[in-house]
Amino acid sequence: MNELPVMANILIDCDPGHDDAMAILLAESLSNLVSITTVAGNSSLANTTRNALSVTELIGRDIPVHAGASQALNGEARDARHVHGAGGFGGVSLAEPGRAVASEDAVTHILAQARAVEALWLVAIGPLTNIALAVRKEPDLASHVAGLAIMGGSTGSGNATATAEFNIWADPQAAKEVFAAGFDPIVCGLNLTQQFLSDDDLISELRAAQRTIPTFVADLYTYMHARMEDLIGVRQAALHDPCAVLAVTHPDLFEFVSMHVDVETEGDLTRGMTVFDQRRTRRGKATPNCKVATHIDQGAARELLLKTL
Ligand code: RIB
Ligand code: CA
Repeated sequence: MNELPVMANILIDCDPGHDDAMAILLAESLSNLVSITTVAGNSSLANTTRNALSVTELIGRDIPVHAGASQALNGEARDARHVHGAGGFGGVSLAEPGRAVASEDAVTHILAQARAVEALWLVAIGPLTNIALAVRKEPDLASHVAGLAIMGGSTGSGNATATAEFNIWADPQAAKEVFAAGFDPIVCGLNLTQQFLSDDDLISELRAAQRTIPTFVADLYTYMHARMEDLIGVRQAALHDPCAVLAVTHPDLFEFVSMHVDVETEGDLTRGMTVFDQRRTRRGKATPNCKVATHIDQGAARELLLKTL
């Protein structure tokens, strides 16, 4: 008898956020989503935590949600309200969650899960503050997990600035420390995620299902398309965070290249930039420390998305 594929054990660290919500929905269906930790990013920690709880209640699953960092390692709190709205879920109004967070100590929870859960994958789709704080507490965290998948950075231009992608830009020091912590992480940067775009046809297909979850996602992206039309003149949105989940659950949809990455934490023009060493030379080239996703089969990924939601 064909063995059912073993589903990966995943802990998502997120800042919901429209694409974070879609990532949670995909992970809940395509993996064993053991818990969720939240971080300030697209919106305040209070908003991202409430939004994460609301999504779990929408799917009727009591997945534990642990709140984490409310600001970057350097004390700053930058958000993306111009994209995701003031509360982080522009365009939808979910009922206030009926349950509370499991704790307000995401870092302790991440460390406990890394030891307790067999072959745990960490999927980080917001600023990397919680992951960096966990590494500061236990520098060998990488040796206790199956892997780390990050939505963040870019081998090309940025989105928060000309050179920096939002998750890295919001806490560059955290990203610098995480990339140096020995995870050899999967990195889904803008160069990858901008290959996987939503459009109004996708929204129509989601609405045609006439079910709660697809309708919720259609509402999220109806709002997002209006924001994107306003910001960049097109009714399309990169499905950033879902890429990091699919890179764990369906790696065959991707191509990966091992590279070295470091993060600029100081530059006036380049603060938050992920500097990937893409030189062809062997001389002086830095030893790779991550697996960069360079291509996604976006047709197959779209099909999987529609089938899953
Ligand atoms: O740059 C895209 C990333 O920033 C995504 O994780 C999105 O949710 C925002 O957090
Ligand atoms: Ca996010």
